[in-house]
Amino acid sequence: MAYNLLKGKKGIIFGALDANSIAWKTAERVHEEGGTFVLTNAPIAMRMGQINELAEKTGSQIVPADATSTEDLDKLVSESMKILGGKIDFVLHSIGMSINVRKGRHYTDQNYDFSHKGWDVSALSFHRVMQSLFKADAMNEWGSIVALTYMAAQRSFPDYNDMADNKAYLESVARSFGYFFGKEKKVRVNTISQSPTPTTAGQGVKGFDGFISYAEQMSPLGNATALECADYTLTLFSDLTKKVTMQNLFHDGGFSNTGVSQEVMEKFQ
Ligand SMILES: NC(=O)c1ccc[n+]([C@@H]2O[C@H](COP(=O)([O-])OP(=O)(O)OC[C@H]3O[C@@H](n4cnc5c(N)ncnc54)[C@H](O)[C@@H]3O)[C@@H](O)[C@H]2O)c1
Repeated sequence: MAYNLLKGKKGIIFGALDANSIAWKTAERVHEEGGTFVLTNAPIAMRMGQINELAEKTGSQIVPADATSTEDLDKLVSESMKILGGKIDFVLHSIGMSINVRKGRHYTDQNYDFSHKGWDVSALSFHRVMQSLFKADAMNEWGSIVALTYMAAQRSFPDYNDMADNKAYLESVARSFGYFFGKEKKVRVNTISQSPTPTTAGQGVKGFDGFISYAEQMSPLGNATALECADYTLTLFSDLTKKVTMQNLFHDGGFSNTGVSQEVMEKFQ
């Protein structure tokens, strides 16, 4: 169902890799709700070519940018304003990657070059994106910036590895930059803490299948899907949430506040 919630709004969407990506679903939903946007991803991710399909479907242009490059991000911001014909109302940061996870390095045996790179891509990039937007004065008043995160930022999940630390940093950046973006530009900044979701990044986490089933059984409403995450994100981009800022918002079917569920208890009785 479409509500025209984002009619006339313009944005930038980071991180659509394939049809499973949370950013992909968000782009489709934003389009349905009347928003227009520029799609962006790392130049290396473009080679897969799938993003072209999404661009065509949503009538969007693609501007490649490595989220660890300030130069790329500055260019992305200025080109996006040209393409969209003005300032920006919404931005989705949907980027994450850990080389320690990819290479199977245990948390107690990290390669710090990998840690550094993963932090740069997954966490500092959120600051970089916002700094580029802020310096270019690219955001309209009452605009909205959202990044995606996971509850391993608050609680320990052994296999989430260094991404847990990256997410804690990302959430902190949302609060810190949210203060200045709020004060000076009337722009809100939030993170959405999403359920485990079967995407390329999600499935890269060791033991993902067990992890997602456990979360499903622990959540009174069940896990939130990528499409449901897209819907929630739209509300934060809309004018209906103007005073929500500097928050980490759990979108997890109740998982984060559940001590134990009947289903999980039964496994021990
Ligand atoms: N899937 C889950 O279980 C889950 C749960 C909670 C939060 N999240 C978060 O959601 C976000 C989106 O991930 P997803 O699950 O849709 O997976 P995904 O693999 O589809 O998306 C990750 C994206 O990050 C992009 N990326 C990697 N390096 C980049 C760089 N240097 N510059 C620009 N982009 C780069 C990738 O190209 C890809 O598009 C991530 O922040 C992830 O941590 C995912």
